[in-house]
Amino acid sequence: MALIQLKDISRTYKDGSVSVKALKTIDLSIEDGEFVSIMGASGSGKSTLMNIIGCLDKPSTGSYVLADQPVHKLTDSKLANIRNEFMGFVFQQFHLISKLSALENVELPLIYQGVIGKERKKRATEALEIVGLGKRTKHMPSQLSGGEQQRVAIARAIVSNPRLILADEPTGALDSKSSNNIMSIFKELNQDRKITIVQVTHERDIGEYGDCIYNIKDGEIDNIENIGNKRLVKEEK
Ligand SMILES: Nc1ncnc2c1ncn2[C@@H]1O[C@H](COP(=O)(O)OP(=O)(O)O)[C@@H](O)[C@H]1O
Ligand SMILES: [Mg+2]
Repeated sequence: MALIQLKDISRTYKDGSVSVKALKTIDLSIEDGEFVSIMGASGSGKSTLMNIIGCLDKPSTGSYVLADQPVHKLTDSKLANIRNEFMGFVFQQFHLISKLSALENVELPLIYQGVIGKERKKRATEALEIVGLGKRTKHMPSQLSGGEQQRVAIARAIVSNPRLILADEPTGALDSKSSNNIMSIFKELNQDRKITIVQVTHERDIGEYGDCIYNIKDGEIDNIENIGNKRLVKEEK
């Protein structure tokens, strides 16, 4: 059974008299444990699709079944619960809170979940260790490189043990060495921890870290490429 099943999904943005059909008809299913890359030109609908998969936005038509639950009809507060329970998000611009240390940033989702002090610190420290930042817990975001900040953001995304990581241009603001480092972390989370990963990227070599690439064009899936085992070998951290 697919983890994510989209059927006949469309999304039209209406702004006064202007309407933009950002997604036309999207049918896709993503299995538990897959690593999927979404690619396409700017404006093709990638972020719109990610926002729907991430329950941050609702489709105009169609159905979305996530882990056997039809989520397209749920209220905003129920969608928020699903996001907290299932998903971790990673964005191009990291979105760390500048006045909080690396550890405190990673603790944030756990505070919202009511996890108490000692347990919270332990889990946040473990998440930072997984991304190779066990020795940077007290650093502030401004004291970290872009690649390190993105690793803090990944630690924050995995601290609540999500089944799914959604990443919109996770390497868009990084140099190629840091980008490959982030991809080897994703590969490890996918292969060793069985976290399903869906990422959007502009860069072909980053897309190829996925098991397959969905090429999106004008709000539709143009084609799906299987990448196979090309990138199975883990690169050094
Ligand atoms: N909030 C919005 N309101 C109106 N139009 C939007 C909005 N978000 C995106 N669009 C439009 O929808 C289309 C797809 O956008 P988007 O999903 O952001 O593309 P991508 O991420 O592939 O660059 C674009 O034409 C964009 O201008
Ligand atoms: Mg986008």
